[in-house]
Amino acid sequence: MKQIETNRLILRMYSENDAPDVAGMCNNVSIYQHTLNIPYPYTKEDALTWIGFHDENRKNERMYDLAVTDKVTGELYGSVGISIHKAFNNGELGYWIGEEHWGKGYATEAAEAMIRFAFGEKGLHKVYARCFDTNPASGKVIEKLGMKKEGVLREHVKKDGAFVNLIHYGLLGSEG
Ligand SMILES: CC(C)(COP(=O)(O)OP(=O)(O)OC[C@H]1O[C@@H](n2cnc3c(N)ncnc32)[C@H](O)[C@@H]1OP(=O)(O)O)[C@@H](O)C(=O)NCCC(=O)NCCS
Repeated sequence: MKQIETNRLILRMYSENDAPDVAGMCNNVSIYQHTLNIPYPYTKEDALTWIGFHDENRKNERMYDLAVTDKVTGELYGSVGISIHKAFNNGELGYWIGEEHWGKGYATEAAEAMIRFAFGEKGLHKVYARCFDTNPASGKVIEKLGMKKEGVLREHVKKDGAFVNLIHYGLLGSEG
């Protein structure tokens, strides 16, 4: 796929060379505690395994995971992804940013571009996102994206043995 350009960022496919930087950022309890599929501790091998799935996921149009990088320096800041459910023509948005880069608007800028890709190139009908109710930063990003809160999925998932609430947000293509 072509890379996606925004004001400050380039979103591109990962390569194995990104594994040390991915591991450096994901080996962080502040990322682990707000996500469901990122292990802790997180090793370079975990990153290589994850990156190893990307090509097939993209070929099957199942999932697009893109590296969020600086347009000028190429520095990796984090990740944005969309997981596509073809039967319903919708997709779930996800993202993380390395903690040293938080608060600079990168998650919002990358996610906006991913939503444009989802509605434009992929022709999806709806994009949705879910976050723990204990994750106000992600809730803020989702609201800045113009998504509407559709409800709270009470004790829907388990994190470290405890059930947690998920806030569910959605955006229709006609609203995007
Ligand atoms: C959520 C996350 C991706 C945000 O990345 P980011 O690049 O810092 O996000 P942005 O800078 O685009 O926007 C963050 C917004 O949240 C706000 N925010 C941050 N912490 C907050 C808090 N504790 N309470 C309320 N708002 C908060 C910021 O002020 C900012 O809003 P503003 O632009 O109005 O000031 C990042 O914190 C992260 O990777 N967290 C761990 C992984 C994760 O939670 N992923 C999402 C799972 S659903």
